[in-house]
Amino acid sequence: MTSKIPLFKILWDEEDVENVGNEIKSGMNWAVGPRVEQFEKLIAEYIGTDYAAVFNSGTSALHSLLLAHGIKKGDEVIVPSFTFIATANSPMFMGAKPVFADIEEETLGLDPESVKKNITDKTKAILPIHYGGCPCKIRELREIADDNDLILIEDAAEAMGASIGDDKVGTFGDSAVLSFCQNKIITTGEGGAVVTDSKDIYEKLLLIRSHGRLETGDYFSSAGLFDYIDLGYNFRMSNITAALGISQIKKADKIIDMRQKNSEYLTRKIMEETDKIKLLPLPDGYNHVHQLCTVIAEQRDDLISYLKDKGVTTKIYFDPVHLSHFYREKLGYNCDLPVTEDMAKRTITLPMYPSLSREEMDFMAETIGKFYR
Ligand SMILES: Cc1ncc(COP(=O)(O)O)c(C=O)c1O
Repeated sequence: MTSKIPLFKILWDEEDVENVGNEIKSGMNWAVGPRVEQFEKLIAEYIGTDYAAVFNSGTSALHSLLLAHGIKKGDEVIVPSFTFIATANSPMFMGAKPVFADIEEETLGLDPESVKKNITDKTKAILPIHYGGCPCKIRELREIADDNDLILIEDAAEAMGASIGDDKVGTFGDSAVLSFCQNKIITTGEGGAVVTDSKDIYEKLLLIRSHGRLETGDYFSSAGLFDYIDLGYNFRMSNITAALGISQIKKADKIIDMRQKNSEYLTRKIMEETDKIKLLPLPDGYNHVHQLCTVIAEQRDDLISYLKDKGVTTKIYFDPVHLSHFYREKLGYNCDLPVTEDMAKRTITLPMYPSLSREEMDFMAETIGKFYR
């Protein structure tokens, strides 16, 4: 087949179109409206937390959450470098310092031993990610946080619906962030959420995301006066966007099921073709939702070019944050993160999405086989 296989495609249906269309047709409430709270209830129910607050991106959710947890100038927050840059940047929004710990080779999440080594008397929080939909060693990190009186914030941007045993990611930390950007498990184009059991954090988030305003009603449609009790931003998710979130979250389990079946099929087919690709081992009881399909490949860079020529887009998720120009040159970071750097050289992320066809996956596997032969 002549192929153009992108890294991701969104699973959408007529209900998505109808939900957004209905809000547009109302001619009102495009910014603030009832869909926001409805979407938040569905998120909290889905993850299993008492509260959810939505934002206009995962990054603004991270920003608000660190602020709500009281992270401030002079504090240190332990983060991975093997992540999207927003994770590492978020402590700096508060004037705090991101401190990089290394990852482990199973889940590509923070290595608990490396985290322990990086704790100082300035450390306030640990901020791990669940890489590509795979839970990290979050139970071990919970223990470390408890032993050292640290806040544990999960960056679950890529892992909505992933779980360990019966517990979904997002329920292990003091609070957690989800992203609804277009390549995530469910999407609203751009968007994010915080999930937490803390009423105090939840109430702070509502203020931070909307100008520090006490939202005693619908600001735009009510004649009443509103008071402003703190400094805040406009990090709100729009009502139109939330309407899309409502129809998307109803499909979350279906999307995850399709991703899991596709990942299983694709990697099995690749294994039949070559032994030059290795899968990451999944710890017992871990439920991986495969937002990314990342494998370890020999001759990785040549494989990327070969696949590109054949119409298959792949990517390196992630080029380590500590090696970016910003962190090296502007901030002067010089870190010793051998596993992070090794994994960034050997891993490749293959296309993965719910509607990926068997024909497309067979083509990818055969093309990879041909490359090594
Ligand atoms: C691990 C991680 N954290 C944070 C974010 C930021 O989310 P958003 O793109 O919604 O701002 C992303 C998104 O790419 C991510 O992958």
